[in-house]
Amino acid sequence: MIKLTGVTKSFGALDVLKGIDLELHRGDSMVLIGGSGSGKSLLLKSMIGLVRPDSGTVEIDGQDVRRMRGRERRAFDDRFGMLFQYGGLFDGMPVWQNIAFKQLQGGQISERDAREMAADKLSIVNLGPEVGDLYPAELSGGMQKRVGLARAIATNPEVLFLDEPTAGLDPIMCNIIYDMILKSVQELGATSFVITSDMTGAQRISNKMAMLHDGRIGWQGATEELQNAEYPEVRRFLESKSGRSGDIAA
Ligand SMILES: Nc1ncnc2c1ncn2[C@@H]1O[C@H](COP(=O)(O)OP(=O)(O)O)[C@@H](O)[C@H]1O
Ligand SMILES: [Mg+2]
Repeated sequence: MIKLTGVTKSFGALDVLKGIDLELHRGDSMVLIGGSGSGKSLLLKSMIGLVRPDSGTVEIDGQDVRRMRGRERRAFDDRFGMLFQYGGLFDGMPVWQNIAFKQLQGGQISERDAREMAADKLSIVNLGPEVGDLYPAELSGGMQKRVGLARAIATNPEVLFLDEPTAGLDPIMCNIIYDMILKSVQELGATSFVITSDMTGAQRISNKMAMLHDGRIGWQGATEELQNAEYPEVRRFLESKSGRSGDIAA
């Protein structure tokens, strides 16, 4: 579904991505792990065309993302939902408008339908319809993440991209979020690509895992193979995470 070949990205003298080869297949639930600052968010943004690689290609269903324009590009945008690392909710808008943002902007939906759709998505993340009228500043961190997730699934996307959906949350809230991710992916029949440092959660929500290290995908495989992986960085990563159930704030 999504294929990256030789993707590189540098900022000045800093080479962050040094040649990424990665494939996301339809129906995959993939988790990407890697140290803080290793370029995980950048890799995700390259996959959805928010960041333009310096070299290499990103193909969606065999089509080069850079060649997509206008309508084609918007049609592609409708196929994925995204939760940004730092929430990315619009402070000046009530929750229901945040959730229905894409459809309202595209003029695809009336206010009444937008409110109804938002309430429906809120119920998937276990929040009542009254939350729709609150503003992001009135929500706790966990609620903001849940609203972000509700927004990510608002267009019933085929692919869900979630960047550190549980960072900064306590272990109980982490579990709630992971349950919701599982539920959303099941209800949508979606493919998912999730960045997280929480190994317990990662193993619950993925069937494949990949590790970004030194600008490349150093290891990838089935989730159940991770524990026995011999790649030194994976070992180090697992050791640093053992005994810790929550995310480290990245
Ligand atoms: N727009 C940008 N301009 C300059 N440097 C950037 C930009 N985006 C990311 N970087 C740098 O790229 C590196 C990787 O960032 P990021 O992908 O956010 O890491 P991660 O998500 O793995 O913590 C960091 O050193 C960051 O400072
Ligand atoms: Mg990041």
